[in-house]
Amino acid sequence: MSSKFMLHMRGRASLAKCLQKTDAFLHRSIGTDVVIARAEATRSDESDEKNGRKSLHTLHMERQEQAERSVLISCQSSTNEKKFLKYLSKHGEINKYFFYESYGVYAVVEFANQESVTSLLEGVAIPGGSHESAVPFKSRLLSLRNLGSVDSSNQLSGRQCQPQTTIPINELIKRLSREESIDKQISSLTEAYQLTEENSRLRFLVCSLLKDIATAYFPECTIKPFGSSVNGFGKLGCDLDMLLDLDSITGRNVKLPKSGLSLEYQMKRANSERAVTQSILSVIGECVDQFGPGCVGVQKILNARCPLVRFAHQPSGFQCDLTANNRVAMKSTELLYLYGELDPRVRSLVFTVRCWARAHGVTSSIPGAWITNFSLTVMVLFFLQKRTPPIIPTLDHLRDLAGPGDKSVIEGNDCTFVSDFNKIQLQSNTETLEQLLGEFFEFYATFPFSRMSINIRKGKEQNKPEVAPLHIQNPFETSLNVSKNVNASQLDRFVALCQESAWLLQQSETSTPRGGGAGGEGAPTPWGLATLLLPSQVAGIKSRKKRRREPASERIKGLLESLKNKNQLKKS
Ligand code: CTP
Ligand code: MG
Repeated sequence: MSSKFMLHMRGRASLAKCLQKTDAFLHRSIGTDVVIARAEATRSDESDEKNGRKSLHTLHMERQEQAERSVLISCQSSTNEKKFLKYLSKHGEINKYFFYESYGVYAVVEFANQESVTSLLEGVAIPGGSHESAVPFKSRLLSLRNLGSVDSSNQLSGRQCQPQTTIPINELIKRLSREESIDKQISSLTEAYQLTEENSRLRFLVCSLLKDIATAYFPECTIKPFGSSVNGFGKLGCDLDMLLDLDSITGRNVKLPKSGLSLEYQMKRANSERAVTQSILSVIGECVDQFGPGCVGVQKILNARCPLVRFAHQPSGFQCDLTANNRVAMKSTELLYLYGELDPRVRSLVFTVRCWARAHGVTSSIPGAWITNFSLTVMVLFFLQKRTPPIIPTLDHLRDLAGPGDKSVIEGNDCTFVSDFNKIQLQSNTETLEQLLGEFFEFYATFPFSRMSINIRKGKEQNKPEVAPLHIQNPFETSLNVSKNVNASQLDRFVALCQESAWLLQQSETSTPRGGGAGGEGAPTPWGLATLLLPSQVAGIKSRKKRRREPASERIKGLLESLKNKNQLKKS
């Protein structure tokens, strides 16, 4: 489904242009001072960027607030953009808008004020005229109807829509092959894969729409995205992990007076917190299924270690996982976000390794004995802690830097770590991304997986506490193994691929630009990172024994031969 999901957003520069256009248009049509307001908003955005990094908490607050002021509208491709904006701006100033394609064209429209949304909704009609009856649940997911004559000028068209999912791997390989250094290839890959500003907004908007369902039962709840949607390592098209946050209800501690009268709520009790979570998710899941506009394929997976409701949100194209009472996962999201913000090499290396792993089927969208993206990210972080000098600090060090406000103990697990970036002193490691990528593959090609466990809390490998092919200590629930699901053959494939990739990066034939095709004519010869994404020569490997008998280098030689032949053909 996600491959059909396209976004018409014009990149940063073009977004600015598009906003200026709206501003000028709105200024003319309704006479409000949007131009000035817009300029001020841009200035404050810029100063935010200059002041450095935002905490995940700040990001959440800003995005949630934006989402509350936004509506999602299904349009027709014949929609006249100007008329559409003029119609909406009757309800107030529009801050931002963009179009994307997912089973039709959709618009995300963010008003400057909440009242505009209320005013807009007052004039929205209940669907009628069909033989089916509508569930009268009102939300901010709307459909645009146009009963007037179709005006062919300024219509939305497919041409304006840019793909929302990542470009196909073959396209990426071509793009990377045109770059002139491995460092540039890595930046280019990160650029092509990371979530866009608009995609991030859409993720928060979907959470906000879902929250409108959940607040029918729990008026004080919020729904927050976690995992790769917000940890900085999300790739376009990644799933949307959501947390139903009831902390504002359950975490509120009204102190009972020592004497005199006081009241407390009567509440139904269940055997365990898990049972409470299951019953809440069961009911919310039912509501999402029965009443949630655009929510399809709802599955309640309540017996999982972490109970969840899984569904597809059709208008956004997101595969959604809704959990509750999963505060440790939110903490690990915060931790990953913090590491990603500390040094730009962290994010780039994680993106590259994630993309490499997906290209070779080391990770998969189907649950199974595969290494997960979360495990892989922790492996990259561990590797960066092991550099000399380390690029990122250990989790224990981040805990030691924590202030009183950072203290967090969840179900007996110490989840405390510093939130103030300014307290973290980094050491001056100047390794390039090219060096780091090669070293990453070497590191895991020779890591003693059979004896040792990966531990980002200590930044040192530890003796394995249990028998599992791959042991990665959960950063907060330290008795758990993040990669418990991984079997020996999957680990073997990973190691074999690391060996192959390390080897490829050491060969001058594959680690230097190959030339050809740079002018745009014909496909450029893959080199560097692009070579690492080509179908593997060792992917079919079954076990360690087999690998020893059939050295990977034989098959890599074949790959190199084919590359040489291709070059010779070009020269002749
Ligand atoms: N998580 C965790 N422990 C695990 C698995 C997951 O704490 N054993 C938390 C992590 O914060 C993770 C989040 O749950 O980021 C979401 O898990 P998942 O969707 O599996 O991983 P993502 O990081 O979101 O990556 P992907 O893009 O593959 O969805
Ligand atoms: Mg996820």
